[in-house]
Amino acid sequence: MKIAVIGTGYVGLVTGTCFAETGNDVTCVDIDQQKVDKLRAGEITIYEPGLEKIFLRNLKEGRLKFTTSLNEGIEDAKIIFLALPTPPGENGSADLKYVLGVANNLGKIMKGYVVIVDKSTVPVGTADKVREAISKNANVDFDVVSNPEFLREGVAVDDFMKPDRVVIGVENERAKKLMSELYAPFLRSGNPIIYMDLRSAELTKYAANSFLATKISFMNEIAQLCERMGADVDMVRMGVGSDARIGKRFLFPGIGYGGSCFPKDVQALVQSASEVEYDFKILNAVIQVNEKQKLHLIPKIEKFFQNNLKGKHFALWGLAFKPNTDDIREAPALYIINALLDGGATICAFDPEAMKNVKQLIGAKISYAENQYDALSNADALIIATEWNEFRTPDFHKIHEKIGGKVIFDGRNLFETNAIKELGFHYESVGRAASK
Ligand SMILES: NC(=O)c1ccc[n+]([C@@H]2O[C@H](COP(=O)([O-])OP(=O)(O)OC[C@H]3O[C@@H](n4cnc5c(N)ncnc54)[C@H](O)[C@@H]3O)[C@@H](O)[C@H]2O)c1
Repeated sequence: MKIAVIGTGYVGLVTGTCFAETGNDVTCVDIDQQKVDKLRAGEITIYEPGLEKIFLRNLKEGRLKFTTSLNEGIEDAKIIFLALPTPPGENGSADLKYVLGVANNLGKIMKGYVVIVDKSTVPVGTADKVREAISKNANVDFDVVSNPEFLREGVAVDDFMKPDRVVIGVENERAKKLMSELYAPFLRSGNPIIYMDLRSAELTKYAANSFLATKISFMNEIAQLCERMGADVDMVRMGVGSDARIGKRFLFPGIGYGGSCFPKDVQALVQSASEVEYDFKILNAVIQVNEKQKLHLIPKIEKFFQNNLKGKHFALWGLAFKPNTDDIREAPALYIINALLDGGATICAFDPEAMKNVKQLIGAKISYAENQYDALSNADALIIATEWNEFRTPDFHKIHEKIGGKVIFDGRNLFETNAIKELGFHYESVGRAASK
């Protein structure tokens, strides 16, 4: 099937590549000329495990193409996916200017029946707005479908190729048939396509992300209690998670959620709720808890250094908002960096994939190391902000040798507190007693 994907970022590139992998003829469109040039030349623009291999294969086979021309991209396409940004607007609601801008243009250039699919995360009612924007200029038949994306960065290819479910908001048999044909190869193990009306599909995505963010903030509040009451959050987490109604996943406390989705989607749902005169109290609390949690380590660090960070030097392991991605949007590490720099400290950071993006964002405000151990040189303490696998079982003797104070502040609870105490470290984490 001939498919166009408009927007070639984290979602668009994974979507386009995975549809090409199942034999479709995919053209990805992006306004960023540099990005398109790189992709055409076989240079992948994001870090996502497993993506490069299938990207290169499909590029070589000619099933995956890139262009900056919307006209060229949608030619003969039966389905057009919109994987465009929906950043927060001034009041926190999703800004639809990219989605509606493209919809406006599509109407002018569509030549025959086509299905336009919202893959971006968009507020309830957006499909109607997209339809309206296209209708203004279109003189061919078309349908609008909502197909929110649930992939997780870091495991995006797996999530896309073997989804738990595919949600499709569709109100027309013709469009439904095309969508089910396209997704059939991804659902051979029996996971469902859940068909629903457009509004329910749009809300499902926000409800899912908001629920997951709520789970994280809830456990972060339990971790706060653990620290104050002398309980251990790992024990509480296991005790709670073994209840099948609650489940084991997404119960790990830490230094808050980040990324391009949870923060903006929770905020956007609160805003959408207020537009229908509903005060979404739980989500307001989820946001507040997360804002505070991103800086959870800072008072501990300040206390340890007697409220004087001036002249202190920190090693920072992890910059990405989570492991296995180079995405630093709303990464807790960035908040930690700002707080430490404000206090007069200096920082040397290491991240396996995200340093390029941080350099672009803040340049020489901090220094960057070649590897995790080089980052430790002359540090008064090590701070861990992302749970990359390679940080989980490091060479503690090397850490011991390199950092003067033998102090670790761990925002991701990577190490066992007793074991690290025996190694002679002062170790503070989240929701567990400090080892001194
Ligand atoms: N990143 C995720 O993990 C994830 C997961 C599920 C859903 N989503 C949603 O998917 C959407 C896209 O997210 P993303 O992370 O891929 O964003 P992104 O910023 O990585 O990519 C968006 C791309 O769109 C391009 N673009 C902007 N305007 C354009 C235009 N007029 N024509 C063509 N291309 C244009 C940009 O250059 C960029 O390459 C958002 O709504 C997001 O909430 C993201």
